[in-house]
Amino acid sequence: MVPSSAFPLATELLQAAERKMRAASAAAGGATPSTVIAGGAASATGRQDQANFLDRFPSLPVSIPPSSRLVSVAAEESLGAEKFRFLAVRLRQLRQSRIMKKILITSTIPQEGKSTVAANLACTLARRKQHKTLLLEGDLRRPAVAEKFGLGRLPGICEWLSGKTETINIYHLESLGLWLLPAGSAPQNPLELMQSGKLAPLMEQLEAWFDWIVIDSPPVLPLADASIWSRLADGILLVTRKGVTEKQQLLRGLEAIERSKLLGALVNSSSNVAHSDYYQRYSSPPADPSKGS
Ligand SMILES: Nc1ncnc2c1ncn2[C@@H]1O[C@H](COP(=O)(O)OP(=O)(O)OP(=O)(O)O)[C@@H](O)[C@H]1O
Ligand SMILES: [Mg+2]
Repeated sequence: MVPSSAFPLATELLQAAERKMRAASAAAGGATPSTVIAGGAASATGRQDQANFLDRFPSLPVSIPPSSRLVSVAAEESLGAEKFRFLAVRLRQLRQSRIMKKILITSTIPQEGKSTVAANLACTLARRKQHKTLLLEGDLRRPAVAEKFGLGRLPGICEWLSGKTETINIYHLESLGLWLLPAGSAPQNPLELMQSGKLAPLMEQLEAWFDWIVIDSPPVLPLADASIWSRLADGILLVTRKGVTEKQQLLRGLEAIERSKLLGALVNSSSNVAHSDYYQRYSSPPADPSKGS
């Protein structure tokens, strides 16, 4: 965090950046849904400024397809939605005793339910209006979050990291009280982009704007992408999926994760969303890896 004495300078930078953005937007016919990162400087000068600033992100209508499995929005009375509310409570409790704003949702291998969990958790956290929540599509290779809200491929983090634009594209999903930073279009090797040195200042900026940042990560195995995100996160939730996750892979995955940041594990059951074991268990602290899941 930046000391409070730095805020006036940050505010100035931000205002200058906003003027520039408005001018650029006007020149482009006002169509660019973006805002500017002011050189990575922290810019939250208080709750009011934060709220005013976030209001400027463009609003997008949401249309949730049934395949999205967003139970926290589409089936609020379901057991799955209840489990996400419980998870949100646990996270709020946890952050009374430690810094906990950037939550990474990962798993050992593909298709265990990371994106589904990340989207549901972010929607649940966002229900508290005073807790400004950002859902960050951190899987640059296979982004799958935006489509859960009925949105197509939008410019996002890749465009900013690659220097194609000075702006960062955050969208307000107003009906959900949630903000979304999509992945955008990734180049062949997104790892290089992630290592460009721009990701850490970006996260610092986002941290100043938001109260919760839920990062939908790629799997821990076999890519290095997740390890970059985990370095930037405050806490990691590991998704496992009944019938998919294998013990050996889980053990290898656990070895690759920074254990001090591991908050717990979620068991995502694929059997049936109506079953009572859907998103069955959330535990903290994590299970002993030598005992498997
Ligand atoms: N509990 C569940 N029951 C049934 N299907 C599920 C469940 N959770 C996720 N799915 C489905 O499994 C697929 C993979 O889910 P999701 O995209 O969330 O996984 P992921 O871990 O993010 O995958 P990837 O590693 O490819 O990013 C999706 O089609 C999703 O709808
Ligand atoms: Mg995914």
